[in-house]
Amino acid sequence: MSGIKLISTGSALPAQEVTNFDLEKKVDTSDEWIVTRTGIKSRHYCGEGESHLGLCLAAARQALERAGIEPGQIGVCLVATLTQDTMTPSAACVLQKELGLAEDTVCFDLNAACAGFVYGLHTAECLLAASERKYGLVIGGEVLSRITDFTDRSTCVLFGDGAGAAIVRWGEDYPSLSAVMGSRGNSGVLYIPGVNTGDPSYIHMDGKEVFRFAVEVLPRCAKEVAAKAGISLDEVDRFAFHQANQRILDHAIKKLKLDPAKCTGNIAHTGNTSAASVPILLDQLVSSGQLRSGQKVLCAGFGGGLTWAGALLQLA
Ligand code: COA
Repeated sequence: MSGIKLISTGSALPAQEVTNFDLEKKVDTSDEWIVTRTGIKSRHYCGEGESHLGLCLAAARQALERAGIEPGQIGVCLVATLTQDTMTPSAACVLQKELGLAEDTVCFDLNAACAGFVYGLHTAECLLAASERKYGLVIGGEVLSRITDFTDRSTCVLFGDGAGAAIVRWGEDYPSLSAVMGSRGNSGVLYIPGVNTGDPSYIHMDGKEVFRFAVEVLPRCAKEVAAKAGISLDEVDRFAFHQANQRILDHAIKKLKLDPAKCTGNIAHTGNTSAASVPILLDQLVSSGQLRSGQKVLCAGFGGGLTWAGALLQLA
């Protein structure tokens, strides 16, 4: 058996917190509608002087400091995102310079939308097996406020900005992530036009279809990860599910008969931060002592693509 363990985490949220009441002043919506349908009360938006890079750097520096390792010990640096500051260089390349990572570090961005961070964990696990340096830095970072159409009330209330980072270490005797990943190409349900379309890069979504997809795939993915790891869901200490909508989470918790106390989330005050959602939550679980050394957390993400991914991660 070989795999990766979680060594440390970090996260960063922009200073500006935007409440549902703030959004009521911009679009025809209400705090009551948003809370009832999504569980979201506020989210954070980057303001002037804040950027995708700034968030990713802050989260990465915190994780590095907590791991007590030098940047030169990192062999792989991956950023899961769809809102990096520049198409090229990738955010991971810019981080190579800003963090002082060695030039032979494998650095690239990865787009699997809201499943991106978990895709990144598995990618790091595979790449680290072949790397001389066994530490990996996996980040999920998004500035979704910059691709939000604030005239579309059905999407603009859902998303927020932030970044989360994880330092992982590969070991010959570490448990495998037992990762499960999937994709189902669909260009019409959840999409953001790219530069070649000439259309503004705003999030477009058929909310009901995405909801149906999420409640189908999240419970199945969690079950498959546990089966692959050879454990029951009862043996999992914590669940860190993508924070898209509290109703989707409640549905999965009920269907899988999970203990809600093991599934605490943060959607009320972060909104949906896409690829950043799972690592921000992981950092909050570790920092608050809800996820402790030796414990196993089942992470799962799902979203645009359509994509999904799950993995069982043990805290070193
Ligand atoms: N405030 C007030 N009313 C709103 C609104 C808002 N922000 N957004 C939509 N509405 C209205 C609609 O216009 C519609 O009005 P109508 O009946 O007069 O046409 C009504 O509310 C119901 O809209 P509907 O789309 O049927 O609501 P819903 O119950 O499906 O909830 C979502 C909408 C977006 C909350 C829900 O579909 C959802 O959460 N989907 C998954 C989204 C998601 O998680 N995406 C990211 C995945 S990574």
